[in-house]
Amino acid sequence: MRHGRNMRFHEVEVAARAHRRLLGHNISQAPEFMMVFNEIFNREQFARVIEIGTFHGGLSLFLAFCCLVKNMKFFTFDIRMNGKTAVYNKIRKLGGKFEKANVFQTDKIKQLILAPGRVMLLCDGGNKPKEIRTFAPFLKQGDVIMGHDYFDTQQNFEHQQKWLSCELVKADIQGACKKHNLAPWYEHVLPEIFWVGRIKR
Ligand SMILES: C[S@@+](CC[C@H](N)C(=O)[O-])C[C@H]1O[C@@H](n2cnc3c(N)ncnc32)[C@H](O)[C@@H]1O
Repeated sequence: MRHGRNMRFHEVEVAARAHRRLLGHNISQAPEFMMVFNEIFNREQFARVIEIGTFHGGLSLFLAFCCLVKNMKFFTFDIRMNGKTAVYNKIRKLGGKFEKANVFQTDKIKQLILAPGRVMLLCDGGNKPKEIRTFAPFLKQGDVIMGHDYFDTQQNFEHQQKWLSCELVKADIQGACKKHNLAPWYEHVLPEIFWVGRIKR
């Protein structure tokens, strides 16, 4: 995780706000994420939405709801159970599936990508560059891969005060994008909420 050195007061304030809540559940997303994801799901249909990094389940609950409404399947993976049992029950009640797994040591994500139907893969685990590099080779035409805590450059991260964490920059994914023919996707809105999106051409 790339944190700036010598945190100043406003940065500490940002840090305190970064750990937000969705309907009482912890969530590591900028508050505007709901509008952006809503806009994307208004326009785009997927067979499966896959989240790497459930954490406390805030984003998972939102995505599970979106998937229920839009008749998409939702899967979320985490190496550990950070959330309360109630969260996993609620994800299940919304039709989603949580699996405790190290994403680098299971074939599940590869299988979920390769199965027929368009996929959205959200990389929000412990090593976003590696997640994108690992799973990009399996994307089918039209599939989308996204990564969180994204800034174009480390300099851009250091020159802003809205988001605390930079775990992914353009240089991390350029090679994979070129090799696997991944084009920018919703580039006008996703970086505003510290996500990057690429679509397989
Ligand atoms: C930044 S948090 C996810 C935030 C969540 N998506 C949200 O928006 O609230 C990252 C999560 O990735 C999980 N993680 C780290 N390494 C992992 C791995 N190899 N496989 C699966 N999950 C992993 C961590 O346990 C942590 O819960």
